[in-house]
Amino acid sequence: MENPMRKILFLVSAALSTLLAVSANAQVKSDKVIEYRQSVMTVVGWNFGPMGAMMKGEKPYDKDVFARHAAIVAYMAPLAIEGFAPGSEKATEVGVETAAKPEIWTKMDDFKTKMEKFNTESGKLAAIAKTGTFDEIKKQFGTTGGTCKNCHDDYRVKK
Ligand code: HEC
Repeated sequence: MENPMRKILFLVSAALSTLLAVSANAQVKSDKVIEYRQSVMTVVGWNFGPMGAMMKGEKPYDKDVFARHAAIVAYMAPLAIEGFAPGSEKATEVGVETAAKPEIWTKMDDFKTKMEKFNTESGKLAAIAKTGTFDEIKKQFGTTGGTCKNCHDDYRVKK
């Protein structure tokens, strides 16, 4: 985009669509928000599990398969915060349950910081999974896993 006017228009429309997305989400029922965050976490967990098994030697290590799982986690990580929108502390419909602790919404800055850490470390994992040695990958996998635990310990009800 060499034309500065086009760049400005692009930035304005990007900002507007973000605003629209936020206000649209504000009207989504809490149950949908809860289902969304659990879905994001389910996808993250789905892809994290086999990576763990490979790191522990429970599954043969396949660099490409591992890198693909790592890329999916890194893609999902920034999506998760939207699933903790204000007002989604509790479900309103019977049958929808949440393991998210109410402290998330009273300590949102800390929660966001923990989410950012997860974001950063899963991004590093996706990068190193492609180029790193097994030991480097294993180390970064451990660091990334630590960011899950760091949040779950404080903000997720133990089952
Ligand atoms: C910043 C906080 C945070 C981080 C980081 C985080 N989680 Fe979670 N996770 C939660 C919370 C809160 C819930 C409970 C959500 C609910 O029940 O509404 C959850 C739920 C889950 C679930 C259950 C989903 C379901 O169907 O109920 C899985 C699986 C999961 N997380 C895996 C992971 C993995 C793996 C990582 C790291 C790679 C991770 N999470 C990182 C906060 C986090």
